[in-house]
Amino acid sequence: MTDDYLNPRKSQVCQAIVAQGLLADCDSLSMVDIDGLRNTVRRLTRTFPDHFLHTFAVKSNLYVPILEVIGSEGMGAEVASPGEFELAKKAEIPFPNIVFDGPVKKTDEILQALDLGIAINIDNFQEFEIVADYFRNQTSTSIVGFRINPQIGAGSVALSSTATLTSKFGVGLQDPGVREQLLDLYQTHNFLNALHVHVGSVGSPLSLMTEGAEAILSLAREINDRVGNQQVRTIDIGGGLSVNFESDDDSPTFEDYASALQASSPELFDGSYKVITEFGRAIVAKNAFTIARIAYTKTMGGRPIALCHAGGHNLMRTIFQPEDWAKRVTALNSHGQVKSGTKVPQDVAGPLCFSGDIIAHERPLPELVPGDLVFVHDTGAYMFTNHFYYNAKPYDPVFGFESQGEEFRFIRFKAGQTLENLTSMFTKD
Ligand SMILES: Cc1ncc(COP(=O)(O)O)c(C=O)c1O
Repeated sequence: MTDDYLNPRKSQVCQAIVAQGLLADCDSLSMVDIDGLRNTVRRLTRTFPDHFLHTFAVKSNLYVPILEVIGSEGMGAEVASPGEFELAKKAEIPFPNIVFDGPVKKTDEILQALDLGIAINIDNFQEFEIVADYFRNQTSTSIVGFRINPQIGAGSVALSSTATLTSKFGVGLQDPGVREQLLDLYQTHNFLNALHVHVGSVGSPLSLMTEGAEAILSLAREINDRVGNQQVRTIDIGGGLSVNFESDDDSPTFEDYASALQASSPELFDGSYKVITEFGRAIVAKNAFTIARIAYTKTMGGRPIALCHAGGHNLMRTIFQPEDWAKRVTALNSHGQVKSGTKVPQDVAGPLCFSGDIIAHERPLPELVPGDLVFVHDTGAYMFTNHFYYNAKPYDPVFGFESQGEEFRFIRFKAGQTLENLTSMFTKD
């Protein structure tokens, strides 16, 4: 981990955060790099041909101002709940650019999606019956297909792997009779015009992702041959591109993925199919960070511990699965400048009342003192956006920033949660 490196942009913005007093009224906040976000989306769209529709996995970051930036760059949205759908709607993502996923959709949600022309990835054969019922009486412009579990195995993070033999997602392509059942259903229901796969999220190697895409392409060919026309016209290859949390480098890149896909499934690139992607983490993870003030320090059993205001409430995955979600942490002084000095292995701990609330374990950093700051890198995806209400800890402010000449313009996306607002969530109504 390259903890002590802060690139020039991060370095400048940290000093601007302190100079502009953004940490005066709070002890922890998260910052989204709006320029970085735009550049990432532009890199993605440049890398793939125009017949790809890239949708953003809203679960990875729920903030509407972020969805607006992403939407303004032409991305659609992948939503997995009515809440995510409402957020995509608030960000004015056009309905034809929305994909509705999720393993447990309610009937009225399915019917609404079909009414609005939103794409649906059907999770299971019982859900299929609800969709089929709809089409008995009316039509829809929705792209509709099954989510397929190609059952090709796990990536390196078990909890994020969705293509295992017994995963809860989709229909298992290798289970006895399922391929034949799908062929029959596509043959007898011409509203089925798509196939979807998402083999997993962080930790999925490119080979697993390309194998998943190949599996549904070969099924699409078989369906279209059997039906006698190109009924399956859309291939949704999901998201899941891994993110490198070890340094600022993107690895793998969108280009790496595109080259691997092109080599294994050239038909995705020649315009034979409309192709949908659903990236989340690869879009936002590296375009945000969290910064917190050190409140106290102590030594326990010979180990220095720095206690700060970021922790399990805004970095939940790092706290509960530190082996999979370790984050680079850079020590800053109270002016927001990178600290130098002898490195001492120390814990950076959060404010919650449980022992696991540690952002960095025995991390060699210049010794932190009260008033210093810690900069937690790459927190844009599945972190501060998934607030954890343990200890009734309110959520922290979230800002966006963009360059304006030599300066930065900060835009408040969300003020910190007031105690009144927080307590109302747990009060009888
Ligand atoms: C169906 C589906 N699509 C896309 C994603 C986004 O994955 P990632 O953020 O790893 O790109 C997920 C994540 O769980 C998912 O379940």
